[in-house]
Amino acid sequence: MENQNSKTNTASGTTERRKRIFSAIQPSGQMTLGNYLGAIRNWVDMQDEFDCIFATANLHAITVRQDPKKLRENTVNLFALLIASGVDPEKSIFFHQSMVPAHAELSWVLSTFTQFGELSRMTQFKDKSARHADNINAGLFTYPSLMAADILLYQADMVPVGDDQRQHLELTRDIAERFNGIYGKTFVVPEPYIKRNAARVRNLLDPSKKMSKSDPNTKSFILMVDEPATIMKKFRSAVTDSEACVRYAEGKDGINNLMEIYSACTGKSYEQIEDEFRGKGYGDFKTAVGEAVVAVLEPIQIRYRELLSDRKHLDEVAAKGAEAAARIAARTIEKVYKKVGLMR
Ligand code: TYM
Repeated sequence: MENQNSKTNTASGTTERRKRIFSAIQPSGQMTLGNYLGAIRNWVDMQDEFDCIFATANLHAITVRQDPKKLRENTVNLFALLIASGVDPEKSIFFHQSMVPAHAELSWVLSTFTQFGELSRMTQFKDKSARHADNINAGLFTYPSLMAADILLYQADMVPVGDDQRQHLELTRDIAERFNGIYGKTFVVPEPYIKRNAARVRNLLDPSKKMSKSDPNTKSFILMVDEPATIMKKFRSAVTDSEACVRYAEGKDGINNLMEIYSACTGKSYEQIEDEFRGKGYGDFKTAVGEAVVAVLEPIQIRYRELLSDRKHLDEVAAKGAEAAARIAARTIEKVYKKVGLMR
């Protein structure tokens, strides 16, 4: 795992470190098609070319009150679902964030390099504190410092995420630069890796919003584990417009979103999609989108069910991943503590 293929031979015959990737996903609730198309698909594609480190972000999940039993179950299920989606523990380091204490350690240090004003500007904080007005806890506020720690701990060069994480990534870069400016080069300053296509999959009933599992209306999102019949039904009730013409254009958010999903699942360009549905109604198009999504999700769901039947194996994979991650993380913590003046 660690460093398995981390050296690449260059044309000049020298060797250099392969670029390192880090990303994570919260085990709060169930994974959506938005998570898959916006982020996870890209994780999977990056595994052959880069040194990848992926985690379930369970420490992040407790910023919103969780039932302990459910959180544990959701975390394991998500871990299995990600493997079923193509995250390969033979190629990448894959673990649960809480199993590597260095995340919490670095998070504390970095929170002292993060300004109140910066955290106050985070749109995710504003959204979540509006949704959970009875529990606006300090962790919800300092969440971006923990996310910066996740990334900087591994000296990641690139972070594959959906568009909604762009602001957190910018703050991570600012924190890294600030720390490096004071103590000399300590952290790699990471680049976001956000694909143009499906970087922001929309809510099926209100395309002005992103698709999110926390939406109270279950018809607004597709879950990775939704039954084929449910998927077809949800697409049939997706909001469109009155033009009855399948084309990608401003002001057609509902259709644009369905076209993005269809394109991401079939590899077809918008032009090809427009040709395919010229003269046809939205009903035909919605059916085709549903079928394309089912075709992508069905094999993942089969593999997911198989993986869940061997819980012991999943725990072993996570433990092995955590061990490899902890070794890399320890080097960064050592360096940071020394620079800041903390004894170990
Ligand atoms: P989370 O768990 O909300 O989402 C996981 C990933 O899915 C992307 N995503 C979407 N992409 C396209 N369309 C959507 N509708 C959509 N919804 C979600 C997210 O952008 C994300 O890439 N804070 C992070 C988790 C995290 C993390 C990290 C990510 C913790 N530490 C370090 C990167 C690096 C989050 O809440 O993602």
